[in-house]
Amino acid sequence: MRIGDFLVDEIYCGDALKLLKKIPDETIDLIITDPPFAIDFKGKKNNYNRKNEKVIDGYNEIPKEKYYDFTYSWIKETYRILKDTGSMYVFSGWTNLKTVLNSIDDVGFIQINHLIWKYQFGVYTKRKFVTSHYHILFVVKNQDKYKFNKIEDYPEDVIIVNREYWIGKLKTPTKLPIELVKKLILFSSDEGDIILDPFLGSGTVGVAAKLLKRHFLGFEIVPQYCDFAKKRIKEIEGNLFINGNG
Ligand SMILES: C[S@@+](CC[C@H](N)C(=O)[O-])C[C@H]1O[C@@H](n2cnc3c(N)ncnc32)[C@H](O)[C@@H]1O
Repeated sequence: MRIGDFLVDEIYCGDALKLLKKIPDETIDLIITDPPFAIDFKGKKNNYNRKNEKVIDGYNEIPKEKYYDFTYSWIKETYRILKDTGSMYVFSGWTNLKTVLNSIDDVGFIQINHLIWKYQFGVYTKRKFVTSHYHILFVVKNQDKYKFNKIEDYPEDVIIVNREYWIGKLKTPTKLPIELVKKLILFSSDEGDIILDPFLGSGTVGVAAKLLKRHFLGFEIVPQYCDFAKKRIKEIEGNLFINGNG
């Protein structure tokens, strides 16, 4: 299956700002993404006690003064390409949250929920509280038409999911837990839907989409991360095939 120039279930290595422009209007069912931050985040340092040599180098950060323009530009494109029934989940740390919220409002998205993802540990601090949560903004284009599969009777807006330990394995610096991504996919899409992550990193959204019989499209600017994500997807496809679910 194709969407414009893109084959679905593929990862494209390049700049999301350019690639998003090539997706036709109203073709995507769901977007789940954890965009780059504008902090001086060095992918190889302070990685939650993980051994630095196991973290793939090359994390692509956005300069602080360009963060609003960058954020507004990609969010504007996501609004154009989402179907009327579609929705988006944007992950954000608290430091740049106001920029992301302003961009969402300025583009015209409607906020449905402001979720908190609580994880099990943060970076040790001496003179402030330890950050152990992330914000997830759940936004839609049309509040009468967006999909919401109520897979839980009482779905609360604080979600507690542990970060994954990848002991002894290579990984990218900021990987989301698959369990968390799967949950968002189940609430906001159906089998066969197309899910996009323009900032794919290690490929978690693609992996979760495949496991749940959805299609995905992923963009990532750092070539080493693209290769890593492609490998992860291949492994999943292989396993699904062996187990007869492919
Ligand atoms: C916070 S990480 C995403 C992590 C991902 N959710 C995962 O589970 O691995 C953000 C990613 O965006 C990528 N990135 C930064 N600028 C980009 C751009 N202009 N186009 C595409 N990807 C970009 C970074 O290299 C990084 O891998």
